[in-house]
Amino acid sequence: GPGAVILGIESSCDETGAGLVRLTDGGPELLGHELASSSDQHARFGGVVPEIASRAHLEAMTHTVRTAFVKSGVKPGEIDAIAVTSGPGLAGALLVGVAAAKAYAAAWEVPLFGVNHLAGHVAADTLEHGLLPKPALALLVSGGHTQLLRIDDLAGGITEIGTTVDDAAGEAYDKVARLLGLGYPGGPIIDQLAATGDPTAIRFPRGLTGPQDSRYDFSFSGLKTSVARFVEGIERTGGTVPVEDVCASFQEAVADVLTAKTVRAATDLGIGTVVIAGGVAANGRLRGLAADRCAAVGVHLRIPRPGLCTDNGAMIAAVGAHVVTAGARPSSPFLTGNPAMS
Ligand code: KG4
Ligand code: ZN
Repeated sequence: GPGAVILGIESSCDETGAGLVRLTDGGPELLGHELASSSDQHARFGGVVPEIASRAHLEAMTHTVRTAFVKSGVKPGEIDAIAVTSGPGLAGALLVGVAAAKAYAAAWEVPLFGVNHLAGHVAADTLEHGLLPKPALALLVSGGHTQLLRIDDLAGGITEIGTTVDDAAGEAYDKVARLLGLGYPGGPIIDQLAATGDPTAIRFPRGLTGPQDSRYDFSFSGLKTSVARFVEGIERTGGTVPVEDVCASFQEAVADVLTAKTVRAATDLGIGTVVIAGGVAANGRLRGLAADRCAAVGVHLRIPRPGLCTDNGAMIAAVGAHVVTAGARPSSPFLTGNPAMS
């Protein structure tokens, strides 16, 4: 019931996260969280190396959990439940968080819930803006996922409406950053460089927006190839690549398709609230264009602050809060593709 304190543990990719939330009638309240990242160790490979990520989780886990307790002022004895990401994600990475969560749950004699990472990204928004109206439409855009989800219940009622047929939006950012020699993760770097570029300089393709194309699915691999061809063309003639303009024009193409399809789905389905979540939701242009386009059709837009958009433990604790509120039975999590998806 209200007042219950939940620990959330995240380890699906390259961020080790621990967060503490308290259940209130208005939704989960963030008490504090801590993150450790192995992103530096993956930088020279241009993407996450699973084995490196798993080892880094193992090194960081206990310290990260301990620091989350210190930051939030909560004592382990005050915990009422633990939630841990059980999928989707890298198996070896997930395993570290699940094993740690099982050990804590056994030691502290509290129930344990395996929760869905994607639900976590959406639940992050409830830490900042309170409970979601039912239904809500979520655009989840991260390094591994690009999905339009109808959210009837964060504790299990999630239906996929559209998804990427190839690269995820964040993956496209990372690949384009790599081909421009900008480093990893590419999203924040491109976001920053795009600020001084011209978004209309190059007209890059908008995937799956033809009249015969799927209304709600996405494709970013053609866009990535188009950027690669453009850059190669300039390099072949010995010219200088206008990096800021390429970043701004690429970013415009991504934000354009993501927001157009999201607003279309909200309108088609008669859903009045849109949540944008996941690492790419930190993107400045996506946030701005989504605000304009949602306002134009009278749809309420919610986006968590950038610090809660990327992977973290607080968002997993937030799903835990919804699961506990729904009266779910504790599970002994095993690794699954999409736990708690309808
Ligand atoms: O949600 P997240 O932290 O991890 C996954 O579950 O994948 O998302 C990471 C992704 C990376 O691809 C990163 O490049 C992208 O989010 N990203 C951004 C920005 N910040 C992070 N993409 C565009 N603009 C940003 N500001
Ligand atoms: Zn994520």
